Amino acid sequence: MKIVKGTSLAMEIKESLKEKIALSSLQFHRSPSLALILVGSDEQSKRYVQKKVAACEEVGIVPRLFSLPETTSQQELLNLVTSLNDDTATDGILVQLPLPPHIDKNLIINSIDSQKDVDGLHPFNIGKLTSGQEAIIPCTPKGVLSLLRSLHISLKGKNVVVIGRSDLVGKPMAQLLLRENASVTICHSHTSDLETFTRNADILISAVGQSNLILPHMLKKDVVVIDVGISTCNGRLVGDVFHPERLSELEEVVSIITAVPGGIGPITVAALLENTFEIYNKRLSI
Ligand code: GUN
Repeated sequence: MKIVKGTSLAMEIKESLKEKIALSSLQFHRSPSLALILVGSDEQSKRYVQKKVAACEEVGIVPRLFSLPETTSQQELLNLVTSLNDDTATDGILVQLPLPPHIDKNLIINSIDSQKDVDGLHPFNIGKLTSGQEAIIPCTPKGVLSLLRSLHISLKGKNVVVIGRSDLVGKPMAQLLLRENASVTICHSHTSDLETFTRNADILISAVGQSNLILPHMLKKDVVVIDVGISTCNGRLVGDVFHPERLSELEEVVSIITAVPGGIGPITVAALLENTFEIYNKRLSI
């Protein structure tokens, strides 16, 4: 069983981007810039956003972090997004999710200029992805696809089971897989007899965040597991499948599995940087 960390692919992506950004910044007389909006003080969200800011700095993207208090009103947030939409020097806009309950997530996402929507969450980008047109692809699914490519795992005709149907991961992941000619099944919290589906998976992509969700006996021999889920179990970070105490059992059935933590996470951040650069290039090349 090969345990895959995402750090080396993420480094490769960042090194290549750093060179391209240096060249483009000379050509266009400015660096790409990404606005990151964090509302509230959720510790996990803060950590994610800090990682994104640090990664921007590594490759030469200018991060503009807006840390707003939990009490920020929906109108105040809308006003900020609108001003960033209008700001020609801002290339990408990211609103970290989840938002506090008094703010309508869809209203905010829909207010982002779809050309600056680095997360690919705006209905315009979702529609384009779904209809097979060139679109801004959500970062985690984009990262998963990059990883599968780097591992030379072909998707054509494979049975791929995606667990989780979120707008950030499950749904766009399924669309991307279809584009690659995989046979895709989406399972979720209401799926009865999950094992029937997981046993049939040549490739299993799980993005739930629930430890012990998928146990080794539920897997097909030689499966490739992409573990996007992250949760804590006895004080340790574990995946939906990946569990340090279960490695010997997994070894019996799994051919490749991504580590948790340090598997898909770093690649997702690298994909965000790629999206920012692509948007910047597109905006300045017109
Ligand atoms: N919260 C958890 N992951 C993400 C992400 O990729 N983008 C945004 N905007 N919020 C998140």
